[in-house]
Amino acid sequence: MSEDKKSQVSRRQFLNYTLTGVGGFMAAGLLAPMIRFAVDPALQPETSGDFVSTGKEVDSFTNEPTRVDFTVEQQDAWYNSKVTKTAWVYKQEDGSILALSPKCTHLGCIVGWNDNEDHPNMFYCPCHDGLYEKNGKNIPGTPPTAPLSVYDVQVKDGILYLGKEIPRKEA
Ligand code: FES
Repeated sequence: MSEDKKSQVSRRQFLNYTLTGVGGFMAAGLLAPMIRFAVDPALQPETSGDFVSTGKEVDSFTNEPTRVDFTVEQQDAWYNSKVTKTAWVYKQEDGSILALSPKCTHLGCIVGWNDNEDHPNMFYCPCHDGLYEKNGKNIPGTPPTAPLSVYDVQVKDGILYLGKEIPRKEA
């Protein structure tokens, strides 16, 4: 075999190895997430059917917003942590439960109910004097331009369960 022929074969082999390597790498990239989700269902994203118990009886709520803290499990890649969330919950006139997110829609500070004497019976955001009505509707002329978000609500065995936070355009 001439020196030239040897070098041609070696180039072909090199190409074969390279293409096989790249192909294998791409296949692994495509298959890895599928295998991961098949093997560990806990890693699958939350569905809209996910509700968490607040441990509070629905009958305990009145028409006055009450602060409710509840814990959700959060999965970040392989890391599982517990996060405490808050809702302002009250019974509406028709008896249904409204659970509002306390996150101000201006820049995300936390609003409180009826805790500013200049603005009684309102949700007040201390960061930039944001104001909301009891149903979470933002007051025009204050910084927030959207109502407070609401949590999905479910009642099981008389206990309040909360789901995803849903942004609203109107309250
Ligand atoms: S963050 Fe609430 S008013 Fe600005």
